[in-house]
Amino acid sequence: MNILAVESSCDETAVAVVTDGRTVRSDAIASQADMHALYGGVVPEIASRKHVEAIAALADRALTEAGMGRGDIDAVAVTYAPGLIGAVLVGVNFAKAAAFALGKPLVPVHHVRGHIAANYITHPDLEPPFVCLCVSGGNTMIVDVKTYTDMEILGATRDDAAGECFDKAARVLGIGYPGGAPMDKLAQGGDDKAYDLPRAHVADAPLDMSFSGLKTAVVNLAHNARQKGEELDLPGLAASFGAAVSDTLVPRTMMAARQKGYGKIAIAGGVAANSRIRADLKAACARSGDRLYLPALSLCGDNGAMIGCQGYYEYLAGKRAGMELNAYATRDISLG
Ligand code: KG4
Repeated sequence: MNILAVESSCDETAVAVVTDGRTVRSDAIASQADMHALYGGVVPEIASRKHVEAIAALADRALTEAGMGRGDIDAVAVTYAPGLIGAVLVGVNFAKAAAFALGKPLVPVHHVRGHIAANYITHPDLEPPFVCLCVSGGNTMIVDVKTYTDMEILGATRDDAAGECFDKAARVLGIGYPGGAPMDKLAQGGDDKAYDLPRAHVADAPLDMSFSGLKTAVVNLAHNARQKGEELDLPGLAASFGAAVSDTLVPRTMMAARQKGYGKIAIAGGVAANSRIRADLKAACARSGDRLYLPALSLCGDNGAMIGCQGYYEYLAGKRAGMELNAYATRDISLG
């Protein structure tokens, strides 16, 4: 079964063709990151306009690269939540038009479920149940993936997402946008004990997280240093920051995995590319005996292939949408 999959929830327009959920025939992506870098963050209105400009040509490219014509497509899958509402709407409307014109089913996909599904592409043997740490620019949560389409949040951030925290810290330090990857690179040469940064705990909710205090701590460090004319040890700060994020995410993921006892842990989303988090998870799983699934670096960020993969399992579970399908800025992953 060939699915044409559309993703436009943030600043990447992406269209892919995926066969039977696990075989990626094409994965065309147009990133807007350079444009948003001028402003130090995603400008929602610009994101929507850029999606409109890119999406039709990208769909043609995805078909060409897959060596397929429109008649080869059996269903259209699309990210319909969560994300920047104007941006998601572009993909939803394009997918509706495509499904209508092709006379094929339309399958709505939750964006974070898509990130989780990136693991099925990297690891053909991976099947639920497992516990998945989902960390991106807009979401941070630990998810119980009970089946391909039955999921429950075990813990989540109470404020900022980990990726947003990376991006804001990088911006105030003048490291660039998006900040996660450059912070990760800078951290390679740094002492992770150079700065004493906070690790927050949420009272009575051991699996929940909070990143706003960490973000504020870095902002204050940067402002204080500027006012006093002092130099910051940037590699040390990047390494200390990466350690603080990882110390918040990894032990909670391991605690959730212990509670569930599946013996399988995965990670998903843009921040899943972070080398400190990957290394700490590997070390923790080596100690616990859990099997760890890491998505390919190329599939950590937003892409269409992961939507085509999850779309296949949503289709098998009977999920369909009509022309009334709307986009949602927020939506619980358990609702699909
Ligand atoms: O999944 P994604 O592409 O978009 C959302 O769905 O949000 O994630 C983007 C986020 C950005 O915040 C970016 O800075 C972060 O992922 N990111 C990283 C790394 N690579 C990307 N964060 C930490 N370390 C990285 N290596």
